[in-house]
Amino acid sequence: MPSGCAPQPLPVHSAPMSETYFVTTALPYANGPLHIGHIMEYIQADIWVRFLRMQGKAVHFVGADDAHGAPIMLKAQAEQITPEALVARIGADRPRYLEGFLIGFDHWHSTHSPENTELSQDIYRRLQAAGLIDSRSIEQFYDPVQKMFLADRYIKGECPKCHAKDQYGDACEVCGSVYVPTDLINPYSALSGAPPVLQRSDHFFFQLSDPRCVAFLRAWLDAPGHVQPQVANKAREWLEGRGERALADWDISRDAPYFGIPIPDAPGKYFYVWLDAPVGYLAALKSYIDSGKARARGETRTFAQLLGASDTRQVHFIGKDIIYFHTLFWPAMLKFAGAPYRVPDNVHVHGFITVSGEKMSKSRGTGISPLRYLELGLNPQWLRYYIAAKLNANVEDLDFNPADFVARVNSDLIGKYVNIASRAAAFISRHCNGVIDYPGGTAALTEQARSVVESVGASYGSREFGRAMREIMGFADRINQEFDARQPWVLAKDPHQREALQDACARALYGFKTLTCLLAPVLPELAERVARELFGLDRSLTWTDALEPPRHIQPYRHLMTRVEPRQVDALLAPGASAPAGTTTAAPGPSPPTAVAAPEHISIDEFNRVDLRVARIVAAEQVAGADKLLRLTVDLGGETRTVFAGIKSAYDPAALVGRLTVVVANLAPRKMKFGVSEGMVLAAGGESGGPYLLAPDSGARAGMRVR
Ligand code: MSP
Ligand code: ZN
Repeated sequence: MPSGCAPQPLPVHSAPMSETYFVTTALPYANGPLHIGHIMEYIQADIWVRFLRMQGKAVHFVGADDAHGAPIMLKAQAEQITPEALVARIGADRPRYLEGFLIGFDHWHSTHSPENTELSQDIYRRLQAAGLIDSRSIEQFYDPVQKMFLADRYIKGECPKCHAKDQYGDACEVCGSVYVPTDLINPYSALSGAPPVLQRSDHFFFQLSDPRCVAFLRAWLDAPGHVQPQVANKAREWLEGRGERALADWDISRDAPYFGIPIPDAPGKYFYVWLDAPVGYLAALKSYIDSGKARARGETRTFAQLLGASDTRQVHFIGKDIIYFHTLFWPAMLKFAGAPYRVPDNVHVHGFITVSGEKMSKSRGTGISPLRYLELGLNPQWLRYYIAAKLNANVEDLDFNPADFVARVNSDLIGKYVNIASRAAAFISRHCNGVIDYPGGTAALTEQARSVVESVGASYGSREFGRAMREIMGFADRINQEFDARQPWVLAKDPHQREALQDACARALYGFKTLTCLLAPVLPELAERVARELFGLDRSLTWTDALEPPRHIQPYRHLMTRVEPRQVDALLAPGASAPAGTTTAAPGPSPPTAVAAPEHISIDEFNRVDLRVARIVAAEQVAGADKLLRLTVDLGGETRTVFAGIKSAYDPAALVGRLTVVVANLAPRKMKFGVSEGMVLAAGGESGGPYLLAPDSGARAGMRVR
C-alpha cells in the first residue's frame, strides 16, 4: 500500500456481523470444588469469546453446575444433607474462581432447574415421537440394604481372571482385564458391603444404532469443521465398530432413588445424568434469556428464536474424556428432537493439563489449587498467558512446568511487552508533555502492524493461541530492537534531538497499543488499565484500535510485576493443593492483589544499601545443601560468613582470592547451615548464570560500591 493512504478496514470487520455465538464449557460436576483442569478449559473458552467480542461479534457465554447423578446423591446422603444443599454449598464458591481468573461467563445456571426439566422432557418426548426410544427389561445388581440399583463402580469383588480381591465391577486394576459386574467372584456392594442380588427392571434406551442416527452422525462427522480431525476419527471408530465393539444403544434411565429429572409417564424412572447434563447448556441459555440479562448484550430474541436462527453458532468447549457424549449422543439427540434445537456447530476438544508432567490426582492432592493460586497473590493473567502460550487447536495435553511458567511470564510479559511502555512512556511524558507525534508519519507503521494483526486474528479465531502468542512476542521483539537501536537514552540528553526522540518513542508506543489490543483477550484487566490509564480512553479496546495510532499518553503507572520463583514454590509446596471440600468453608480471605513495585527508588533509598568490594578468602561445600557454598569474605579488615547459591556454577577452590561485591548491611539471616552475614551479588536469568560480579582491577576489599 502506498504510504499516506488511509488505513483500510480489517477484513474481519468487513465480514457480516450477524452471526451470534452461543458458547459453553463442560458443566462441572457439582460434588467437588473446581480444579485447575476446569480453570484451563474456562480460560481457553474465555479467551476465544473475548476475541470474538473485540471483533464486534455477538456472543452468549454460559455455564452451569452438573448437579445430578448417583455420586452427588450418595455424597449428600453421607453428609446427611439434601443433594440440593450439597450443590448449593459447592456452588457458593463458584464466583471466587470465575472472578478470580477473569472468566466472563454471562450467566451460570444448574441442571437441577425448571428450565432443564422442561427441556430434557421435551427432547425426550420428541425422540420418543421419532421412534428412537424403546424399553427393555435388563438384569442388574441391586443392593438390598441401600435399596438401590448399583452402577458398576459401586460393585466390587474378586477378579474372574487373576483373582485379585476388591476389584471394581468394570475392570481389574491388577491384571487390566475388562468384564461386566456379574463376572465378579463374590461381589459385594461398595456402599453397604452386602452381597448384591440380581434384579430385573425396565430401562429406556436411546437407539443410537438406528440407521437414521448412524447415517446422520456419519455425515455430521464427515462435514469439515464440526470437530477436529482427530476427534472425528475417534468418533468414527465408535460409530463404525463391529462385533463386540458395535455401537450400543444408550441406556438413558435410572431407577429411584436417583437425584435427577423424572421421565414423563414413567413413575420411579429418572433420566441418567448424562442425558440431562448437555441439555443443561440449553437450560442455561434459556434462563439467561428469560431473566432479561441477555438484553444487556442487545439480544432481544426469545430462546427459541435465537436457537433456531440460521446464523446462530452453537459451540461447545470440552475435554478429551467426554468426546463420546458430545460427538455421538448429543448431536443425535438434538438432530432428532428437531427445530428449534440445533445440532452443535462446533465441539472443540482440548487435552488435559498436567503439572510437572504428572496427572493431577485429587486424592493425592497433586495439581495446583486454583484458590491457593489466587490467595498467594499470583496474578491470574500470568496463568492465562501461560496457558494461552501453550495451547493449540489440537487435543494435546498441556504441562504446567513451574520453571517454564516463571521464565515465560517474566521474559514475555514483563521483559518484552510491559517493558516497551515503561521505557517509551517515560520519555514522552518527561520531554514531550505526553503528546505523541509521528515525525515520520504513521502509514508505514500501520502497514507493518496490519499484517501482524491479521495473522494473530486468524490464529485466535482458529484457537491456535500458542501461535498467536508467538506472533505477538515476535512483534514485541521487533519493537524493542528498533527502540534500542535508536538509543533514546542518548537522544534524550540532546535537546536538538527531540524529534528523533519523539519518533522513536511514538513508534514504540504505537506498537505497544497494537500489542495491548492483541493481548487483550488473554490479559483483559491489564488491557483495560492500559486503555484507560495510559491512553486515556473511556472505553475498552476493540480489535480496530490495534491500527489506530495513539496521540497522547498519561503518565505511565506500573503495569505488572514479575513472578517470583518463590511464589510458584509456595503454590506447589506439598499439601498446597487444597483437598477436595476444604474450599467450601466460610468465604476465605479475598485474594490479595500483587503489590505493585514502585517504578523508581530515590537516591536516598539506594544509598541505604551498603555495597562493598569483598575478597573471598575461603570457599567450601556445605554438607546437605544442593545450591549453596559457604564463603568467607574479607571486607577490608572485617571477615564475614556468607552463604551463596552459586554451587551449580563454581568450584570453591577457584573462588579463593577473587574480588566480588557484597551487600554488607543486609540483616543477618539464620539458615539451616549457619548464619549468613551478607549477600554476594551475581547475575543470572533464563539464559544462564549465576555469574559472580567482580570489580575492575585496582579495586580493594572494603571499597564502597555506589
Ligand atoms: N459433568 C461432566 C460434563 C457434563 S457436560 C454436559 C464432567 N464434569 S467434570 O467436572 O468431570 O469435567 C468438566 C470438564 O473439565 C470436562 O471438559 C473435562 O474434560 C475437564 N477436565 C477435567 N480434568 C481436566 C484436566 N486435567 N485438564 C483439562 N481439563 C480437564 O465431565
Ligand atoms: Zn485381575
